[in-house]
Amino acid sequence: MATDIRSRLRDLTGQLEEKHSLTEKEYAFLIENRDEETARDLASRAVKIRRQIYGNDVFTRGLIEISNICRNNCYYCGIRRDNKNCSRYRLTPEEIFDCAREGYGLGFRTFVLQGGEDAWFTDERLCEIVSRLKDSFPDAAVTLSMGERSRESYQRLAEAGADRYLLRHETADEEHYGRLHPPEMSFRNRMDCLKELRAAGYQVGAGFMVGSPYQTAAHLAEDLKFIETFKPDMCGIGPFIPHHETPFAGFEQGSLELTCFLLSVIRLIHPPVLLPATTALGTIHPTGRELGILAGANVVMPNLSPLGRRKQYELYDGKICTGDESAQCVECLDARMRRIGYRLVKERGDIRK
Ligand code: 5AD
Ligand code: FES
Repeated sequence: MATDIRSRLRDLTGQLEEKHSLTEKEYAFLIENRDEETARDLASRAVKIRRQIYGNDVFTRGLIEISNICRNNCYYCGIRRDNKNCSRYRLTPEEIFDCAREGYGLGFRTFVLQGGEDAWFTDERLCEIVSRLKDSFPDAAVTLSMGERSRESYQRLAEAGADRYLLRHETADEEHYGRLHPPEMSFRNRMDCLKELRAAGYQVGAGFMVGSPYQTAAHLAEDLKFIETFKPDMCGIGPFIPHHETPFAGFEQGSLELTCFLLSVIRLIHPPVLLPATTALGTIHPTGRELGILAGANVVMPNLSPLGRRKQYELYDGKICTGDESAQCVECLDARMRRIGYRLVKERGDIRK
């Protein structure tokens, strides 16, 4: 029996490498029956295929957390509307520009503007910020991560020069989506946003949390099938980490091991995908991001937000934000990457298809 499972696992990893596709049942089998040997096997195949496309390069993105004000109330998120103990802030356009200028001086050529769904950032204001960044730093990519907006808004922001947009789908299972979000949020709308972003010409990032409450192997299999069919340019996955001021305060955090396993699987499903070793991964383990890279990730996103604001942008408890993960310490990050045989690259780093 045990040998049956082992040989089936071996078949599936080989198939994944060759065909970049499995059925949902097979994905679920792989997840449910995974063992160390399979994880090692997947990681080495993932690293091999990534090396063919990107060599030993790890791309950097300067992350600017522009506002923690949010109209949404996601059950997992520390900056949700109902968290009355969250001390709110919003950067001014001038402060955002200053962060980018500092990042540019440090060598960064991608800026990610991320924030809650804050109504102050109308299309007009955000377009102005984007155009100013693109005018001042023409060789840099601007990525937005500002949640669900209208199709028109996405189009206008693209016209203003935004190159990429990150919007995690959070879970590809509609019923599971309903358990992570209040009733006023809709799975359909989330998925429609991703399609509209692609139609508007963005490089699009999707993604999900690993070990979020109520998540099963079947749900993760749906996430993997979604990645396989939608083929996002980027895919952000990180462990769920409880935040003490949310309805999910009492749930367990997601595991390092499963996150790394899925990073390898996603690399094999969609070889050119840009795959960050996330801050959440770095938060649950001191060398979490290195382990992510060794599993198949190829992006890190150091923090460029004003130092005093970083703790306030607290999506989950214990978020790291002042050590090597800060953009100011890009040298330390570079040293960490060199130690495991990689090289930190600060260019735009577009997807290679
Ligand atoms: N743990 C881990 N990740 C979280 N995110 C939000 N809250 C948490 C949490 N408690 C992730 C979501 C969101 C991204 C910006 O951060 O997936 O899309
Ligand atoms: Fe809005 Fe988390 S609930 S960013």
